[in-house]
Amino acid sequence: MSDAREQAWHRLSLHPKHTLAQLFKTHPGRLEAMTARLELDSADAESEAGGILFDWSKTHLTPELIADFEALAKAAEFDEMRGRLFAGEIVNPTEGRAAEHSALRGVGRDASVEEADALRERMRLMVEAIHSGELGEVRHLIHIGIGGSALGPAVVVDALARDLALVDVHVVSNVDGVALEAAFAKCDPAHTWIAVASKTFTTIETMTNAASALRWLEQNGVADPTGRVIALTAAPSKAVEWGVDETRILPFAESVGGRYSLWSSIGFPIAVATGWEDFAALLAGAAAVDAHFRDTAGRANLPLLAAFADLYYARIRGAQTRACFAYDERLRLLPSYLQQLEMESNGKSVTAEGEPVSGPTAPVTWGGVGTDAQHAVFQLLHQGTHLIPVDFIASIAPGDDLDQAHHRILLMNCFAQGAALMAGKPSDDPARAYAGNRPSTTILVDDLDAATLGALIAFHEHRTFANAVLMGINPFDQFGVELGKEIANKIEQGGATFDPSTEALLKLAGLE
Ligand code: F6P
Repeated sequence: MSDAREQAWHRLSLHPKHTLAQLFKTHPGRLEAMTARLELDSADAESEAGGILFDWSKTHLTPELIADFEALAKAAEFDEMRGRLFAGEIVNPTEGRAAEHSALRGVGRDASVEEADALRERMRLMVEAIHSGELGEVRHLIHIGIGGSALGPAVVVDALARDLALVDVHVVSNVDGVALEAAFAKCDPAHTWIAVASKTFTTIETMTNAASALRWLEQNGVADPTGRVIALTAAPSKAVEWGVDETRILPFAESVGGRYSLWSSIGFPIAVATGWEDFAALLAGAAAVDAHFRDTAGRANLPLLAAFADLYYARIRGAQTRACFAYDERLRLLPSYLQQLEMESNGKSVTAEGEPVSGPTAPVTWGGVGTDAQHAVFQLLHQGTHLIPVDFIASIAPGDDLDQAHHRILLMNCFAQGAALMAGKPSDDPARAYAGNRPSTTILVDDLDAATLGALIAFHEHRTFANAVLMGINPFDQFGVELGKEIANKIEQGGATFDPSTEALLKLAGLE
């Protein structure tokens, strides 16, 4: 680590540790200073998207801490790294790749944006063919993928198309056949198409599920099951080898990482379920955040400021986890999505140069949906021994048409939890005392629509990148997932020996 970086971290560790109550008391303008609004309608004159409010006032960030984090960003060459990201330069050195997810939203290297536009047009025509009936009556789409090839479509379809889907979409990821059978049970094979989503088109779970889906179609009287497959991949030749006709392959660029790929053809089921307009709005919302992240300096840059808070808790206060609670049923899958985004990106022990890191990297990301989680896990947040910074995410406008009481109670509870975590409550009875001084951030959208959701996800992508740059790690590789796959392959091939525990388990399950 460079001296300048080391010094910046050292200075950060020296700041006094005031309580949240003290911070509010000593700085009357704290709320205004620590709250920011991101407007989304500037990205697209046609769009009526509103904005997102970020309230960091209930975190321990102070203007002085932020100034020292800005010094860290300078020492970590944050501006230069961000410039390289948007210029489509190699920012993933271990794999020699760029990371061009923003180009899919129109913000990036010109040639990559042009290529993405052309591929998106190809995808639009396929979506149109489905909606117009050109491909017959398509009632169901089973989207088969895993990890980044499933979580993005799953979270967005669940948020935006739950009761209004133009086509009934089922996202299946687990190789456990129970998952695929559940989807079969809800689909009429005569009117079902299959999307096989895999960047590499080799992932064993996805290819096993895809083969079973074809067998299911065949067994149920579909004469040409492969003719019902649409491949979403960065490896079109592999899809051709597997038997998919070239006209039904929707490619995307190799420079788009799996967990950053929902904006590419991997988002095909989103467009099929919600319609093209919503998919375009999702991209426009993300593009507004791209422009903000690319063009805004220092503390006014919201994903960067979020990363300052993340790193303060992970590195200075020793927080081992970070929780995200969506007070919105439509976002119930968001914590799982963020889990992959943050843990697969930043769960690293070496720097981008291969040196051991100088402090903790990504905390464990976890969470759930409010108000359910209040009645299950919030006990630990309020009285447990762990320090857990919490993000609350909610929408001012309701997602339901029922009595307004529902949304009122939902939001009141969300805000009450943040207030309770901060304020605490003394008691003579230790079992009933709340220490308080527990941090939270509130992210409040005007209305959860496609543009806002796109912006929210892009905000988290850039927050993850900013965290990585400040820690000096490469967020775009994921070699940690390989060893388990290799061992599973060895088991499949037979002949290898393992530790006594693994040998015994294999024997018990009849897999030796
Ligand atoms: O094993 C991890 C991983 O490579 C993820 O990064 C990726 O999103 C997922 O597997 C699926 O990979 P693919 O899209 O190539 O099937």
